[in-house]
Order: sequence, then structure tokens, then C-alpha cells
Amino acid sequence: MSKEVTSLLIRGGHIVDPSQGMDQIGDLLMSEGKIVQIGGTITVTQSPERSVGKAKNLDATGLVVCPGFIDLHCHLREPGFEHKETIATGTKAAAIGGFTSVCCMANTEPPLDKAAVVDWVRQKASKDSPIAVLPVGCITKGRRGEELTDMTELAEAGVVAFSDDGDFVASSQLMRRAMEHSRELGLPIIDHCEDKRLSDNGIINEGEMSAKLRLKGIPAAAEDVAVARDLTLAKLTRARLHIAHVSTKGSVELIRRAKQEGASVTAEVTPHHLTLTEQRIVREPPDKSFDANAKVNPPLRTREDVQALIKGLRDGVIDAIATDHAPHTLADKNCGLKRAAFGISGFETALGCLMDLVHQGEVSLTQMISKLTYEPAKVIGRNGELGSLKAGAPANITIFDPDRQWIVNSRNFASKGKNTPYDGCQFKGKVMATIANGRAVYIDDSVVIARSGLMKQSHV
Ligand code: DOR
Repeated sequence: MSKEVTSLLIRGGHIVDPSQGMDQIGDLLMSEGKIVQIGGTITVTQSPERSVGKAKNLDATGLVVCPGFIDLHCHLREPGFEHKETIATGTKAAAIGGFTSVCCMANTEPPLDKAAVVDWVRQKASKDSPIAVLPVGCITKGRRGEELTDMTELAEAGVVAFSDDGDFVASSQLMRRAMEHSRELGLPIIDHCEDKRLSDNGIINEGEMSAKLRLKGIPAAAEDVAVARDLTLAKLTRARLHIAHVSTKGSVELIRRAKQEGASVTAEVTPHHLTLTEQRIVREPPDKSFDANAKVNPPLRTREDVQALIKGLRDGVIDAIATDHAPHTLADKNCGLKRAAFGISGFETALGCLMDLVHQGEVSLTQMISKLTYEPAKVIGRNGELGSLKAGAPANITIFDPDRQWIVNSRNFASKGKNTPYDGCQFKGKVMATIANGRAVYIDDSVVIARSGLMKQSHV
């Protein structure tokens, strides 16, 4: 589906690039995979010298033009769970969602606990993916929480971070050693914070809904105690700790305090934890049946938690928005709420539901874009090359219509995972084009890339 566009002039868009404090109506010229010029009016005239190739034209009037989105947290399921998702289907869905780089989690089969598996994923992605796939390596062998992986070997194989996501490293001593190693390697740990003894096979948030529906609850404390322990260890080891999918008010406060004390900690939140509450586990009346598509770990929490997460995002306690795209088959979900798998297919709805927060005035457009671009690039130490539209940077560009209305229909997802709690929702905000490394990897049917002649860049 990717289209080679050697040179492209994106005209008259609303350029928002938090990496350079840019917010203006202007043009952007890319050529041969790189940003050439950005801002103001760029005139490209026909001339044989200073050629930038056969430039095409995209009229971005009324559209937002920003750096390509970076997802710090997704599950591409390959190898091992190709019935749920493959690198090809997952990254196609990511491109439709505006993502040009995605960090894929290590809970595959085999898990990403050896260089050979990381190499395999990177090679497969180089063939099957239109966007950059950045693997995350396991903290412990087999994600069993017993013995550290050879983290140096994994770093040499190119992992961008370490995580046992889906599982918590229960041993404080092992986590301390993991942090010490990751610090030496200069890579962050992406921490799934969950005290499994406290969550104890719970299904939804422990509180009003779990009591009313007589379902086993997962207390907020299961997350909070794990966050508290690992913030303490991060201060001890001075490691770079990134807290995954923050879902509670308590975690936000703990992270806020640790940041004030100078800990090297960052955090992410998902679009679903920002926009849905525990109530969503029951469908709208008159149906009122359980909806396993809203079963996710950590669980959807209370309105108070959602408000704390939004506030945390606004004041910078939470650095990034990550989808935690977790595709599952219909069979994995339609087997009763107790047995249903945890997870939400998130790539294709991320922008739509985040734009709801922007339209409601909860977060600004710039804040939202920053948390999807520049901030996640910083978390993985790639802010020199990713998350920016500066001249010379790789041409990773997302173009979206902030006002386009559309209705979610999971049957149309490119992802194999149709498990979304947003099916049938109307969103205002849609990705129109995604350009990854200079290639148009997704273009909405309504966008026209017009052909022009041989062009040269003129200095204005
Ligand atoms: O809901 C979730 N699904 N949470 C996780 O931590 C793991 C993920 C998955 O792999 O399905």
C-alpha cells in the first residue's frame, strides 16, 4: 500500500511541531526521505538546477500537519500469535492510525528474550512493515521473573527498552539489578506495574461496579504499590524508569512526587484510560450485557481517576500517550467475561478518541501532539531523529483532519483485532495521510496528491 513519493510539497497546512515550538499555517517540503524546508510559503519553481526531483503536491488546507506519531507500547503478536495479529496487519493498522514508529512488546512466543528473536522480528518488519518497528526486549528470561536476560546482548541486537509487559517483576532484588543494568546500557525500563497478589485474577476495577455486578475487582492499590516500589528503586539506582499504562490517581501522585524529587522517571497513559470509565464494562441500555471489549489490564477505572490522568497529562506528570494496542480474536473475547482476554485494539481509534479531549478543551492540540511525537521520542532517546519536522530529519509526517467526523466500524479495521469498546462511536478527527521515511504509507481516499513538473526549491 505504500507509495513512493520522491518529493512532496505539503501546502497550507496547520503545522504543529512541538519539538521546535512551531504552530503556524505554512508549507512543508520533503525530498528523498528527508524534510527539506518547513514553514512560511515555499515556492518550488521549474528549473533543471537545484532539482528536488519530481515534486508532487498535497493541499493541506484545513488539515493539521505534524511529526509522525510514535507509539511506545503495542503488541504485534508475531512470532507466536499470528491468529491475533501479524507484523504486517498490525503495522498497516498503525499507519492508518498515523503512527510512523511503534515499539512492540516482548510477550510473543518465543518472547523477545534473546538476540536471535529480536533479529527475527527486525528482519520480518523490514519486509512486512511500512513503518519503523522498534522492539522491546524482555527484562527476565521467558518473562518468568526469575532470571535476568542477557540485557547487553539484547541492547546490541537493537532493542529500544526492556519490559516484561503483561507481567510484573515481583522480586525487588531482580528489578534492582535490571535497573542497574539498563542504566549502564542507557536504555529505559518500561514497567508494567501490577502486584499480582493484589490483582489476584480480578476482572474489572475494584469499586462500585465490581460490587454491583459481583465481579472480582482489581484494586487501584495493585498498581499503586508496584509504582511506589519501582519509583523507590529508580531513585536508588538512578535508572531511567518509564511507567506503562498509568491508570490510577494514586500513581499520578506518586509519579508527580518522584519527578519533583528529581527521579529519572517518565510515564504513559492510553487513550482508553483517558476517555472511558469502569461503567463501560456494561453495554448501553436496553442491552446492558457485559462487553468483554472493555476488559483490559490495567482495568478502566473511575471518573476521578480519569480526571487525575487528564490533569497529569496537562501538567507534564504524564509524558506520553501510548495505545497498548492489544489485538485478540473474537473467540478470545466472546467466551464470557471471566475467561475473556484482557486488551483493546487501539491503533485505529487513538486519534479519534484523543481529539474528543481536544474538542472538549481538556488538553490542547499541541499537548496532544507533543505526547504522541516529541515526548515519546525522548523516552527512547530518539529525539534527534524521530518526533520532529526539523529540516534534515527523516520525513515522518502525519496529516489529520481535526474536524472530520466518522463512525468506528471494527469490521473495517486493518488490524486482525476487532476488539474495541468504541465500535459505533462517532469521532471528530481522522488521519488523512501518513508518511513514513518519505513514503506515503496511508492516504485517505479523499486526499489527492497532485502531480507537478520537475521542480526546484527556491529560497524565499
Ligand atoms: O490488556 C492488556 N493486554 N494488558 C497487558 O498488559 C497485556 C495486553 C496483552 O498482551 O494482551
